[in-house]
Amino acid sequence: MKKIVISTGGGDAPGLNAVIYAVVHACYRRGWEVYGSRSGYKGLLDMDELVRLDVEDVAEIYSTGGTIIGSTNKGDPFAMPVENLAGEIRFVDVSDKIVSNFKRMCFDCHIAIGGDGSLEIARRFAEKDMPVIGVPKTIDNDLEATDGTFGFDTAVSTATEALDKLHSTAKSHDRVMVVEVMGREAGWIALYSGISGGADAILIPEIPFDMEKVCEKIMDNALHEKDYAIVVVAEGASAAGGETISKGKGEVGRSEVLLGGIGEWVASEIRSRTGKDTRSLVLGHLQRGGSPTTFDRLLAMRFGAAAVRMVEEGSFGHMVALTSSHMSSVPLADAVKSRKMVDLSSDKVLTAREIGICLGD
Ligand code: F6P
Repeated sequence: MKKIVISTGGGDAPGLNAVIYAVVHACYRRGWEVYGSRSGYKGLLDMDELVRLDVEDVAEIYSTGGTIIGSTNKGDPFAMPVENLAGEIRFVDVSDKIVSNFKRMCFDCHIAIGGDGSLEIARRFAEKDMPVIGVPKTIDNDLEATDGTFGFDTAVSTATEALDKLHSTAKSHDRVMVVEVMGREAGWIALYSGISGGADAILIPEIPFDMEKVCEKIMDNALHEKDYAIVVVAEGASAAGGETISKGKGEVGRSEVLLGGIGEWVASEIRSRTGKDTRSLVLGHLQRGGSPTTFDRLLAMRFGAAAVRMVEEGSFGHMVALTSSHMSSVPLADAVKSRKMVDLSSDKVLTAREIGICLGD
């Protein structure tokens, strides 16, 4: 009999519940117990936040968004923000307490589901001899060590659906609609949704853009009797020679800045340079919500089941990965080494160019 503890860390992504579902069922078949640590590592810090997960607790959750055990992106156990009575914030390393609680509960393995930040934390726990297995998650599709992550397909579908809806209003008013999508420093969501949703221009972080080129494309539309345009901008995109626009770190304890604002900047440039009626909108967290697509559910369940097989094999310190459509595993250290960016020579980028989409260069 084994005892597994599972956690979900970082921004939620559609498919998290499907992983939990698969882990609980695969463990149940083996006669193992599963616990959930609420809000990342909170449950391993404070036993009241640990929940037993049985098959009845996960009934039908595979089709739901979010995570039933909660998540956080400001709970790094190696630098946990703690406020004293004077309101001052100190960063405390509580990792030893987590390791000792893990041992006290007689857990055999921790399955950590997360993006690069959470997987880096998992790697550090593996260094402290905690048996850990990582499961990759991110809507941003920016993990180099796996061919895919669940959440991305759902986010792209949501963004594409939004673009489909924007065409009619843009066309009715002869307007330019600028849509800002998520993705951090990678342009995957923008590129995939922009191509599929008939964008006129797609601006991604991997290609610093020239506003003149974007405006030329919009004016060229008019020459071809198309008086409206759809521009998709990744939140991490920036003009050549310009800077990424961010809103700072937001909450205390976040390791990354919050990106956002480039969509409105691009819209105001288009307005002043072309004189066209221009509006911008930020799709934001809509891209993280809702039911996972079939692709994401299946991938999430495959990851969950493969993670349990890895527990059986004792492949600790590794992350489950998708490699050429098969389940594989990579050392956690390799999993967090580098980010996957859009390859500018890939056929998707070539496709965008060949169908006349302006990439701002
Ligand atoms: O990494 C996922 C993601 O949705 C990014 O695309 C986005 O920049 C960030 O998280 C937003 O974070 P938060 O949920 O803290 O606003």
